[in-house]
Amino acid sequence: MTSYPSVAADLALDRPGFTLPRDLYVGEDAYRFDSQVMLKSVWLYACTVAHVKKPGDFYVFELGNNSVMIIRGKDGEVRAFYNTCTHRGARICGTATGNAPRLTCPYHYWSFNLDGRLLAARDMPEGFDKSAHGLRPVALENAGGLLFVCLSENPPPFDRAGQDIAEQIGIYNLDKLKVAYVEELIDHANWKLVMENNRECYHCEGNHPELLKSLDGTGFGKGLPEDNQSGEMTGDELAIEAQRAEWEKLGIYRELIEFPDGWWHRVARLGLASGTVTQTLDGQPACRKLIWPHGDKVETSLSIWTQPNSWHHFCCDHVVTFSLVPLGADKTMLRTSWLVHEDAVEGEDYDVDNLTAVWRATNAQDGRLAENNHAGIRSDAYRPGMYSNEEKLVEAFKSFYVKTAKAALGME
Ligand code: FES
Ligand code: FE
Repeated sequence: MTSYPSVAADLALDRPGFTLPRDLYVGEDAYRFDSQVMLKSVWLYACTVAHVKKPGDFYVFELGNNSVMIIRGKDGEVRAFYNTCTHRGARICGTATGNAPRLTCPYHYWSFNLDGRLLAARDMPEGFDKSAHGLRPVALENAGGLLFVCLSENPPPFDRAGQDIAEQIGIYNLDKLKVAYVEELIDHANWKLVMENNRECYHCEGNHPELLKSLDGTGFGKGLPEDNQSGEMTGDELAIEAQRAEWEKLGIYRELIEFPDGWWHRVARLGLASGTVTQTLDGQPACRKLIWPHGDKVETSLSIWTQPNSWHHFCCDHVVTFSLVPLGADKTMLRTSWLVHEDAVEGEDYDVDNLTAVWRATNAQDGRLAENNHAGIRSDAYRPGMYSNEEKLVEAFKSFYVKTAKAALGME
């Protein structure tokens, strides 16, 4: 028997090719289920190694009732622990990021080593075993510098996604980058609508003037030779083939990886609009210190998407990376981070406004679209709608959600 009968009933109504039944988007039960069950059964993207660059750097990732500290130890290892004290359960880290030589609980000042071991607990009864009161670990994996956590005791496999991602982002060397700016945006929409919106560019033309200066939407569910059903190449596709030959010469071209065999990652090297080499307003590097070895003339970026909560763009001069978590049925936190070379100096090598302009504008536009979508779905008039040919990646997300949710409820 499931403890989420209404969620199970709605999942059973899902149809291939169509959006979800209403309450899976806007219902309170679905939010509780997502944050307390479904999202705990999968790998969630939290941050990069550059967010916890030095020993003692920590980064707090919140999901529903759970708070997780990702922290770099004195030995250079990055680990994850529940942000819950093993004394009487208080939250230990009270800020989202920071640096500390050890973790000290603000309640009764128990203190923990950066590797989770309990260091000091005052006035405990004789026989108290400090070694049995370390912080509770959370599963953490590193895909070439992208850090994923899983709140399940039995996390699903990671290896293939980890390898596919690490192999292609290696040239951007996340270990040598620093975080230049973080934007925390609250969208008043369900997290699945924010994700669905991210998975298509069907909406780009009418909504994203800044983004379309460097990205023409190709590769975001349409326009790649792999998307062509007719077999006859269009002029645009032939142009992409020519670009790919150039990337091949540089040794940076790999075939499109698109959620292979039920896996949860997509990796695509994509072209940029003619004359542009990065995702900025003028298409030119926003940071003078480049982060890859191939100069500033190649019209390309590398994009990664993972189910169910992230996307990332790697350009010649910066990385932009997005981590999403639900905060309520109609409230979602989108954390966007811009990374540049660790030696780049703000004001000299880069200007934060210029670096972040495209995606700050795009995030705000997407937030409004998702909020408007959420508002419309709440209406009695809503019925699951049919996805277009350009929305196959939206459907890939939705199918992942349904499959994972059903498995979590023991439905299949
Ligand atoms: Fe943390 Fe008491 S709850 S020290
Ligand atoms: Fe968009």
